[in-house]
Amino acid sequence: MDTLMIRGGNRLEGEIPIHGAKNSALPLLAATLLVQGVSEIHNCPRLSDVKASIAILRHLGCRVEQQEDTVTVDSTALCGSAIPDTLMREMRSSIVFLGAIVARCGEAVLTYPGGCELGPRPIDLHLAALRRLGVTVEECHGYIRCRVARRLRGAEIALSFPSVGATENVLLAACTAEGTTVLRHAAREPEIGDLCDFLNACGARITGGDSGTLVIEGVPRLQGARHRVMADRIEAATYLAAAAVTGGTLTLTGCPALPVSPVFPALEQAGCRLYTGAPERLHIRAPARLSRVGTVRTMPYPGFPTDGAAPLLAAACVGRGTSVFVENIFENRYKYVDELTRMGARIQVDGRVAVVEGVDALQGATVACTDLRGGAALVVAALAAGGESRVTELGHLDRGYEDLTGCLAAVGAAIRRQTIPD
Ligand code: EPZ
Repeated sequence: MDTLMIRGGNRLEGEIPIHGAKNSALPLLAATLLVQGVSEIHNCPRLSDVKASIAILRHLGCRVEQQEDTVTVDSTALCGSAIPDTLMREMRSSIVFLGAIVARCGEAVLTYPGGCELGPRPIDLHLAALRRLGVTVEECHGYIRCRVARRLRGAEIALSFPSVGATENVLLAACTAEGTTVLRHAAREPEIGDLCDFLNACGARITGGDSGTLVIEGVPRLQGARHRVMADRIEAATYLAAAAVTGGTLTLTGCPALPVSPVFPALEQAGCRLYTGAPERLHIRAPARLSRVGTVRTMPYPGFPTDGAAPLLAAACVGRGTSVFVENIFENRYKYVDELTRMGARIQVDGRVAVVEGVDALQGATVACTDLRGGAALVVAALAAGGESRVTELGHLDRGYEDLTGCLAAVGAAIRRQTIPD
């Protein structure tokens, strides 16, 4: 069992390169199924969720090669339309393959992606939208069986919530449908724009950008393209929180500011200075001790990102004053709070609200990751805690942070990863 050993108290100083975005790479890899040919995805992060996506592509008959941060997918010989339960359960976002498989094969059989640490993860919006596009969906015994009589047909679709995954599934299914699809109340997250850019490079005709209304004019087929995954705005927000909690000065490289900017107001209210020098170089200078971050309400983009709340909440634990977090996207995103409490944090959780009373210092402790971003919160807290912390269940972190230990150690964190025999 791997364990992170972290001795808190070091100010972080230096530069961290931001990797490609997990939440863009995953739908991009699913999109390569639509292409009868070869696609190259560059700046693809080396993460276990990416490995899981590659396993699904290979299971479906694609040839996939990974060289450094480039993943090359040849989906010419696609021969499957079913994803086994084992692969579906490995990664919640495997549901985003559904739209692409149905579009390419005219049918698909998947099992439910299953809930996750954040609470139930329903897919009703995905399935309702696919039905509008002409997909017959049967749900029985935990299986989702989809079929298209002839060809997917364009439709007018309005999402009742700007679901990122449902937006991605509509985009993947509608690109080669007959006719035009208008998707209203679409997600506006930057990863959606990244997916649209790749699909348009493959010959799709998608307009609407981040307006919230996407128009997809169906085309007969797509051809392979090269694409560079956008920078990971949540990885960046995590490192900003790490700088903030240690009173550090960091520069994030390869990191455009705009997609990360929804977290700036809370960091600035806490006393941090954020500024951009050269393009794609984001700087943060933190005060010796943070003030309260105020009230943080998570919202769909361009609101405060739900994935960025946990690392910032961890930093707020040692701020001056009381901070309030309201989680408006997921039902149960505070499982990691009990672990922070072990370190001396003072946090009251009531449903979607967490009230954080800043303390002068946290104490190092042994804590276990409960989910990806909750695990990041534990690392952020440990960086400021007195003494040594041990962080376990690192599989959660490996899903979404490439070389977390190396990146933090390179800017002065006393952190090492130890493999302790089970
Ligand atoms: C994506 O998840 C991200 N994952 C999440 O990041 C992110 O938190 C989320 O978008 C919101 O930004 C990937 O991109 C792989 P949603 P997704 O559909 O698509 C409800 C991380 O840490 N909903 O926008 O699953 C749902 O239960 C992960 O990197 C329905 O009710 O998010 C949730 O409450 C965590 N029915 C809300 O909508 C549906 O059919 C937002 O879900 C679909 C969603």
